[in-house]
Amino acid sequence: MEVKIQLQEKDIPRQWYNLAPDLPSPLLPPLGPDGKPIGPEMLAPVFPMNLIEQEVSPKKWIDIPEEILDILYRWRPAPLKRAIHLEKHLNTPARIYYKDESYSPPGSHKPNTAVPQAWYNKQFGMKRLTTETGAGQWGSALAFACSLLGLECKVFMVRISFDQKPFRKIMMQVWGANCVASPSNETNAGRKVLAEMPNTPGSLGIAISEAIEAAVTDPSGKTRYSLGSVLNHVLLHQTIIGLEAKKQLKLAGEKKVDTVIGCAGGGSNFAGLAFPFVADKINGAKIKIIPVEPTACPTMTRAPFVYDFGDTACTTPLLAMYSLGHAFIPPPIHAGGLRYHGMAPLVCQAIVEGLLEPKAYHQNKCYEAALTWARTEGPICAPETSHAIAAVIDEAVKAKEEGKEKAILFNYSGHGLMDLSGYDAYLAGKLTDYELPDEDLKKFTAPLQNLPKAEMKKSGKW
Ligand SMILES: Cc1ncc(COP(=O)(O)O)c(C=O)c1O
Repeated sequence: MEVKIQLQEKDIPRQWYNLAPDLPSPLLPPLGPDGKPIGPEMLAPVFPMNLIEQEVSPKKWIDIPEEILDILYRWRPAPLKRAIHLEKHLNTPARIYYKDESYSPPGSHKPNTAVPQAWYNKQFGMKRLTTETGAGQWGSALAFACSLLGLECKVFMVRISFDQKPFRKIMMQVWGANCVASPSNETNAGRKVLAEMPNTPGSLGIAISEAIEAAVTDPSGKTRYSLGSVLNHVLLHQTIIGLEAKKQLKLAGEKKVDTVIGCAGGGSNFAGLAFPFVADKINGAKIKIIPVEPTACPTMTRAPFVYDFGDTACTTPLLAMYSLGHAFIPPPIHAGGLRYHGMAPLVCQAIVEGLLEPKAYHQNKCYEAALTWARTEGPICAPETSHAIAAVIDEAVKAKEEGKEKAILFNYSGHGLMDLSGYDAYLAGKLTDYELPDEDLKKFTAPLQNLPKAEMKKSGKW
């Protein structure tokens, strides 16, 4: 039996898949400050027009430029692997497959969109990109992409991760980027938060505000902002993962997949793997599709479906999504990449439709799963990825209890070799689990009642 199912470079997908036109009920449009749907031109100070076109594209398939593929070949097609040692350990009849996205130079799925974003910005004449980063995976991926394409890169890194993960900052510097802790003194948004909360651990919402401000205030007009998750074009670029996986499962002799799992922070690695399978589900396939989040930041499992801002300073358009509120400051759990207050609108609309079954896990259970993984399969996973593994183990155990042979596929979104402080805390018994209190949920979501209402539209088929 093959444990690594490889595709050749000539078999790499040559188009990205856009779920938006296939959704049975359409996405609600982003709204401007006046509560009216925004036009593409309103995004122009922030993103280059070629990426805005992808963001709003009604096309189901979008060609991947050859120059982008030439860069992706450095690590793609990524292998599909079978976790036979974990299967044996769990004594499960399930066959567990995973896409190994830890193969990329920065160590996660993030360069799948960092490279196209840097490439399209360069085509549009931009010289510099700004961004936020949570765990540091996205910042290092954009630093890597900018370095290959000769662009400058400025990263605002959430304070708690900046302190927990100094090596990520060094990686960004090796690739020539400039990385500062957020909130910083470099922007109005950062200075305002620091004045109110000098000891804040920071949040992705704050770092996004800073990065957008740094882009739109550049007097040269040659700077744009780049986002590592949430938006439609980011999810689009990640679908290369699921499209490769489909070809590889076929090579492995699988006729169908029963369960698809990914961790979800802003939704990009989950969507990248899952959306091509969501398309199958829309067309009648029976697949259980599970995005997994932390109990401490329960966006999909407990937050209301609302219109909310993507950042703390309320500079982004309003997006229709499940949201804990743009002012939400998540507790400093170790999966820094899963601490965003919102979730990708495309993922949210698929949840509203009933196409996905989100789950939330406590961090101790996730680290327990990560250790089981490391001690059976070998690799040390990113803390974010451990959430997917915890759900995979639960599904594989369920398959054993039901005596069912299931094919389970998940996204191994990144390695954890720069995230060892979380493992250290877990091994020392110092990690605490945290369930967001109802009062906090109410406190952070109450102000959203003053924003336009997001209607939950669904076809009722799932
Ligand atoms: C390894 C890894 N997995 C998952 C995520 C979550 O992001 P997303 O939901 O956009 O995939 C991150 C974010 O930083 C990450 O670094």
